[in-house]
Amino acid sequence: MKITNICCIGAGYVGGPTMAIIAQKCPSITVTVVDINEKRIAAWNDEDVNKIPIYEPGLSDIVKEARGRNLFFSTEVDKEIDKADMIFISVNTPTKTYGMGKGMAADLKYIELCARQIARIAKTDKIVVEKSTLPVRTAQALKDILENTGNGVKFQILSNPEFLAEGTAVEDLNNPDRVLIGGDLDTTEGRDAMQALVDIYSNWIPSIQILTSNIWSSELSKLTANAFLAQRVSSINAMSELCEKTGADVNEVAKAVGMDSRIGSKFLQSSVGFGGSCFQKDILNLVYIAKSYGLNEVADYWEQVILMNDHQKRRFAAKIVQTLFNTVSGKKIAMLGWAFKKDTNDTRESAAIYVADYLLNEQAEVVIYDPKVTEEQIFADLEYLGNRSDSENRRLVTVVKSAKEACNEAHAVALLTEWDEFKDLNWNQIYDNMLKPAFLFDGRRLLNKTDLEEIGFDVFVIGS
Ligand code: NAD
Ligand code: UGA
Repeated sequence: MKITNICCIGAGYVGGPTMAIIAQKCPSITVTVVDINEKRIAAWNDEDVNKIPIYEPGLSDIVKEARGRNLFFSTEVDKEIDKADMIFISVNTPTKTYGMGKGMAADLKYIELCARQIARIAKTDKIVVEKSTLPVRTAQALKDILENTGNGVKFQILSNPEFLAEGTAVEDLNNPDRVLIGGDLDTTEGRDAMQALVDIYSNWIPSIQILTSNIWSSELSKLTANAFLAQRVSSINAMSELCEKTGADVNEVAKAVGMDSRIGSKFLQSSVGFGGSCFQKDILNLVYIAKSYGLNEVADYWEQVILMNDHQKRRFAAKIVQTLFNTVSGKKIAMLGWAFKKDTNDTRESAAIYVADYLLNEQAEVVIYDPKVTEEQIFADLEYLGNRSDSENRRLVTVVKSAKEACNEAHAVALLTEWDEFKDLNWNQIYDNMLKPAFLFDGRRLLNKTDLEEIGFDVFVIGS
């Protein structure tokens, strides 16, 4: 089975970069990314590749190379479904905000809509690939919809979860630790479909790193990987609080622990809390699935990862208030960073949002600077919480164009995202322009505490 036409539904943080790489590596395959969001598609098609809607180091060059050659972005979903031999579903699967499973289960309405649309449009056999992160056994639901509402067309369903991290998407897609493909191993058609996808990845990934498995293992492996990763962050963050009480230093602890090859050194960076669109959503989903099978101990075990993360964000914000003599009312707090990590413009579930909200509840005046996040996005994030009206947010919050401007006449600086540029700021000048005592709260352990103290700052570093 040779694939010549791929359609990817969903031009987001996963669909855009993954398809750009497939198009770059497989010039003989035509790859079209479709989305119902016209603005997003227009941005992907912007003549100026620096204006594509997702900021990822290296991505614009790849889009420049492949776009118009064998990479296309379109809003004509039906037409592209019809043409494709292989369809990736890469739409969002957020936490449900209504009804059964509210606040926990994954909302699969966008997935189901895609399946119904494919069933309605398809006139030739197709391989449908789950790229979105989905609850285990979603493939069964897809199969039921496709087989019962289709035009007699044959579908093969594969699970091919994406493990890229934002900010390093291009690097992760070029050199993934592994690619996972789950499918129907019991039938020839199932195995052929899996091989067709293996063949695509084989264009640039060594075969040893391409794993095939049964479809349920593949779906569940994705949730498991995110749960394990998030668990490491919560584990080190739990220790960070103990370090602050005991005089231990969390970096030293992480180093000592991480040098044990059974534990490993990665993902032990203590922080103000993990953010991003997926860790929380996927663990909540895992908790919901466990509960739905009556596995309450399993559910409780994983839920604790989220509770710890919420605690970390809250206690960082509370530390600011306590240190500023128990009140920040009317005080100016500069927040450096809004994205959930460096090198991305994505702000979903960013710890910064929750820290800002806490400070605003305490009537602080918050001034925000992030090198890649727009003012519009920051106000949208605050409004989404629903705790204050947009006009109230705009009264209390100012978004500025430089770190220097944010810190001017501030009572305190809180560092929320580990952008490299914050390391090289003129901290002497910032100190001179701040109110005294000048407080600095480093939620990312990015800065050199001793140097800052020498300048005169009163410094709090998470985990020290
Ligand atoms: P996203 O919100 O950035 O993009 C999803 C896109 O799908 C949106 O542009 C939306 O308009 C579009 N869409 C929704 N329904 C549609 C429909 N019926 N037809 C056409 N377009 C439709 O989401 P994302 O961050 O790319 O995540 C997508 C999935 O990948 C999620 O399941 C997520 O858990 C998973 N994932 C994300 C990451 C990540 O780093 N963001 C990494 C691995 C896996
Ligand atoms: C994460 C996973 O790393 C990806 O493998 C997965 O594909 C993706 O989720 C997904 O399913 O969406 P991502 O959220 O983009 O990727 O970024 P991470 O690098 O994992 O960081 C997540 C959060 O944890 C960030 O807020 C980061 O600052 C924080 N973090 C990470 C720490 O606080 N400490 C660490 O040691 C590592």
